[in-house]
Amino acid sequence: MNKSQSMSMEMPAIRPYGLALSNEARAALKSQRPRCIWLTGLSGAGKSTLANALEVQLNQSGFHTFILDGDNLRGGLCSDLGMGADCRRENIRRMAEVARLMVDAGLIVIVAAISPFRAERETARRLFAEGDFIEVYVSTPFSVCAQRDTKGLYQAALEGRIKDFTGIDSPYEAPLAAECSIDTQDLELDDACARLLAILLNK
Ligand code: ADX
Repeated sequence: MNKSQSMSMEMPAIRPYGLALSNEARAALKSQRPRCIWLTGLSGAGKSTLANALEVQLNQSGFHTFILDGDNLRGGLCSDLGMGADCRRENIRRMAEVARLMVDAGLIVIVAAISPFRAERETARRLFAEGDFIEVYVSTPFSVCAQRDTKGLYQAALEGRIKDFTGIDSPYEAPLAAECSIDTQDLELDDACARLLAILLNK
């Protein structure tokens, strides 16, 4: 008997418990359509800035929201994860699962994470009902992000002081069919926000 066979014999079968209250009932109390807006792009592309501006606008319009920001989650839930490919996959998986729970709870969730791998973003999308996952490619090019270098990380990566840096020695796979693309060098923050709001409000 191999290890996985013995585990499956010892582990009790786990079946999801059917909750009495529906997702629709939770959302109805908030008078909103819960969804996940997933911002992907290079470090320094403007994901967090855009996520925060969008959240403030949604809040001021009476929507119930939350932001899952890669940098913030890496200080807690994902503090055991590094920047290698397997850790990034696990990071994306956890963010997607948490986002899904928050959407089930009735919130409009904004994820801001490099999330560099197409396959994991597609896996995230499949957790949500059709139309409830909005992928936004923050497409600010590498040269602009490296020039901004607000955290000094590009400089450190180019000098070899940090490894596995996205766009330098770790890949970024751009979305092929995102619901929206925003290049923050072409678009003012207010205009970028307005574009996302229009998508959310189906305008
Ligand atoms: S992800 O690739 O796993 O989605 P995530 O968005 O959570 O990444 O975290 C990226 C943040 O970690 C960046 O905003 C940056 O501040 C920081 N960081 C530290 N090391 C790296 C690195 N090697 N590559 C990219 N970002 C890094």
